[in-house]
Amino acid sequence: MRNVSIALLGCGNVGRGFVELAGRERQRIRDRYGVDLEIGRILVRDLTKIRPGVDRRLLTTRALEVIDSDCDVVVELVGGVHTAGAFVRRALANGQDVVTANKALLAAHGPELFEAATQRGLSIGFEASVCGGIPVVRALHRGLAGDSIESIRGIVNGTCNFVLSRMEEGLDFEGAVHAAQERGFAEADPSMDIDGHDSAQKIRILASLAFDAPVTHESVIGIRSVTREQIERAHAGGCVIRLVAEAERLPGGVTVRVRPREIDAADIFGSVRDEYNVVAIRGRATGEVVLTGKGAGALPTAAAVLSDVIEIAQLRSARPAEVGRVGVRTSSSAGAPRLVAR
Ligand SMILES: NC(=O)c1ccc[n+]([C@@H]2O[C@H](COP(=O)([O-])OP(=O)(O)OC[C@H]3O[C@@H](n4cnc5c(N)ncnc54)[C@H](OP(=O)(O)O)[C@@H]3O)[C@@H](O)[C@H]2O)c1
Repeated sequence: MRNVSIALLGCGNVGRGFVELAGRERQRIRDRYGVDLEIGRILVRDLTKIRPGVDRRLLTTRALEVIDSDCDVVVELVGGVHTAGAFVRRALANGQDVVTANKALLAAHGPELFEAATQRGLSIGFEASVCGGIPVVRALHRGLAGDSIESIRGIVNGTCNFVLSRMEEGLDFEGAVHAAQERGFAEADPSMDIDGHDSAQKIRILASLAFDAPVTHESVIGIRSVTREQIERAHAGGCVIRLVAEAERLPGGVTVRVRPREIDAADIFGSVRDEYNVVAIRGRATGEVVLTGKGAGALPTAAAVLSDVIEIAQLRSARPAEVGRVGVRTSSSAGAPRLVAR
């Protein structure tokens, strides 16, 4: 049995889900994987918040007390770019593996962070950063490693699904966005989601895992211009409108597209609503593989984080021979840096 201590940065939606799941699954993980996961310290901003199921004695507002503790893995669930980036850099400098659900951080600083991890022989697990509970990073990196991927197509943004689903029920665009904000699906400023940039970030991360080629063409159109009339017309023809993100390998590079598309309501893509996501991966030998499930939410996202922690814990047992699981190295060909799975 190998003991692995975890420093948890952030105990909000996903962090609390992680604490709950790590506790609930601890014995099963011990029995099945031979690792005993223990959360040592937990970083938060506000010590007075009520956090059911969380041992208050583990909480602190002092970041270094958590990161510089004698832990093996740092789990970053604070979100944002600047502070989270500083925390992750510190953890890597300390020689700790990192798991994060932070797509925004990877989009802004991924190549630099993966480079730092690779140089130190450390891992950064990021399964939860794309499509929450759907193991699409692992599918591309491991499950389909034996095939050449030709294209990836997905509905990867729950906010847009929610807005489009409410518009199907009669709300106009502004009303549907407001409803999404009330339900906690959309941020106060929902532009990243509804203008397609969140979907573009996700499909770019998946493309970097699937294709050993640079993105040479990208076009991103969100759902701001989708009208009730378009949705009604689609509905009359047995279709729905969904924001679809695609990445395709073409001669000379990878093309990334995000745009609203009309889809047959009976199609698996047409039945995706609210926080559900779907990703279809086409391999040259395998044909199409479709993964669908909850792309967000505390427990599904926490489950993906926990899977990364388990995998890293197992890898640590195998060191120093094997290092850097989905450690990623930087390649700056064709201008923009990209992530490349090792
Ligand atoms: N929510 C989802 O469904 C989902 C899905 C996929 C990925 N993610 C990603 O998961 C990450 C966490 O999301 P979340 O929804 O759990 O966020 P959240 O509910 O806002 O939780 C953030 C946590 O971090 C703490 N925190 C933030 N800034 C801090 C700072 N400067 N110092 C110390 N503590 C700080 C907060 O402390 P307090 O509690 O004291 O305020 C809170 O506990 C994000 O990167 C997000 O993009 C979330």
